[in-house]
Amino acid sequence: MPIKKVGVLGCGLMGSGIAQVAAQSGFPTAILEATPALVDAGMKRITKFLDGGVAKGKVAPADRDATLGRLRAGTDPAALADCDLVVEAITENLGAKRTIFAALEAHLKPDAILASNTSSLSITEMAAATARPTRFVGLHFFNPVPLMKLVEVVRTVETAAGVEETVAEFARAIGKTPIRTTDRTGFIVNRLLVPYLLDAIRAVEEGVGSIADIDAGMKLGCGHPMGPLTLNDLVGIDTTYFISQIMFDEFKEKRFAAPPLMKRMVMAGMLGRKSGRGFYDYSVEPPRPNDFLTGGAVERGR
Ligand code: 3HC
Repeated sequence: MPIKKVGVLGCGLMGSGIAQVAAQSGFPTAILEATPALVDAGMKRITKFLDGGVAKGKVAPADRDATLGRLRAGTDPAALADCDLVVEAITENLGAKRTIFAALEAHLKPDAILASNTSSLSITEMAAATARPTRFVGLHFFNPVPLMKLVEVVRTVETAAGVEETVAEFARAIGKTPIRTTDRTGFIVNRLLVPYLLDAIRAVEEGVGSIADIDAGMKLGCGHPMGPLTLNDLVGIDTTYFISQIMFDEFKEKRFAAPPLMKRMVMAGMLGRKSGRGFYDYSVEPPRPNDFLTGGAVERGR
């Protein structure tokens, strides 16, 4: 069954990106948000990204307008009635996700496929809250969604083979490369990425180097597009903290344990780019490393 119309639940950082790339690739796309204010904020985020693309010469003004024309955002679940695929990208809370899937099902076509963009929660547990576990997959996008080429397609023990293939085909149709994985916490990418991001924070804690030097080390020494502390700020310190807790819970391995500095940054509201402060201060351009996080230890040569 080919996908013709797409629904997206949630229009935050990830949901807005997913809706944008679907619409940009020609799919009529319905976005469901909880409140009109969130609908507004999500559409503003999409418009800003598309305008940025126009300014950079990457998006033709006509494509921007056509993309926006294919998007319908609102708070009424009836708008999802004719969607073939609904991708959930709401807050990382299993209870909230299970509740929204259960509430939505009555509005959806019986053969619609449900997908979750979760980065760490169990796809199987979500699928079990629905009446269509064979038509349920994980579809894990990467931040920033319009620029990152990868999508993880996650099957559970119940996912029908045809459903996995249909979703992989959809990923290709929106310009992404799908890789396939099973329902294990962190899937492929976060299983490898999260210990690396946590280790970079441990390196700050232990005074191994300054924030700028740790980032420069991995950028210039390993050819990464950005350093691990910049990436922590991009993903959101709270998001990676949350993922690490779920992974630690699952595997009970130290490499998934959140360092104390990370916990304190989350408690202090230093969440990275989204809060304006994290390992860098984003109130200035270029962002300035928050070297007080190292207690000045590196600078004093201790
Ligand atoms: N519209 C269209 N194109 C745009 C654009 C826009 N608004 N903004 C930028 N672009 C294009 C640029 O023109 C450029 O194109 P080019 O390569 O053809 O020249 C390209 O996108 C890159 O943009 P920039 O040059 O502005 O920026 P950078 O070169 O610094 O790249 C980045 C930005 C793609 C974010 C890069 O730094 C990167 O890949 N960083 C790593 C991000 C990453 O690892 N993400 C994964 C996080 S983990 C995750 O999401 C999982 C979750 O579960 C936690």
